[in-house]
Amino acid sequence: MTWQFVTQGLYLFLFSASFIKKCHFNDKELESCIRKQIENSLSRFTKGIPELGVPSIDPVQLDDINIDGNGLKLKFAEAAMHGLSNSKLTDLKVDIGSDEEDFNLGFKGNMSLTAKYNIDGKILILPIKGDGDAVVKANNVEVNIQSKLVHVKDSKGRSHLKLITPNYKYDIQSTTFDLKNLFNGNKELAETTLSFANENWRQLMDDLAPPAIKQIVRTVIKAINKFFSKIPIAQMLEGYKDS
Ligand SMILES: *[C@@H]1O[C@H](CO)[C@@H](O)[C@H](O)[C@H]1NC(C)=O
Repeated sequence: MTWQFVTQGLYLFLFSASFIKKCHFNDKELESCIRKQIENSLSRFTKGIPELGVPSIDPVQLDDINIDGNGLKLKFAEAAMHGLSNSKLTDLKVDIGSDEEDFNLGFKGNMSLTAKYNIDGKILILPIKGDGDAVVKANNVEVNIQSKLVHVKDSKGRSHLKLITPNYKYDIQSTTFDLKNLFNGNKELAETTLSFANENWRQLMDDLAPPAIKQIVRTVIKAINKFFSKIPIAQMLEGYKDS
């Protein structure tokens, strides 16, 4: 199931709930009901909900990435990560029973990063130098986020959900780099070097992926919390009473 199909559901459920069943707080099936609602709303969610001030997270705009170590200087500016809205949900666990619960979210997708790059140094033994447009395609990127889900009160005393202290891990199956204008456009040098870089993609991704994934996770958590901050729990769950 892709996020795209599922998001429409939660959105409709929340905002024109008349024909879609709301989850009941006292329902034995509460967890699977919530799960279904989240699945139903994810893809809509990744596109953003302007009415609630929830920004689109496809693409995710990334801060500049600067790597300087192991004899290699690499900078990515104006970077954007595309692909979240076509990711698949691989794990989802959410409880809303008490004031502090666990929340797990896993997703997997093919992501592509576009940026202006600047590279100078060596990959292993091979010199590399250039600047221009970069496209980095990462296949089957799987991200697992583990977080605490707490209840916080708004100024009117209504409880909202909030994700705090998220942890995450990730895995990437393979990556291909396309760096335009390596060596000032010297084709032969560029091709040789690029194919070497692609054979040794892990070397580059070990530096590149952590700052990128960190920002993606932070953006996703922020968007979810924005959404939670706008919708009280009682509005999401029938039968939920603020204590
Ligand atoms: C990523 O792309 C590959 C090749 O097109 C495809 O087999 C795979 O299912 C895709 N992965 C996801 C998570 O969509």
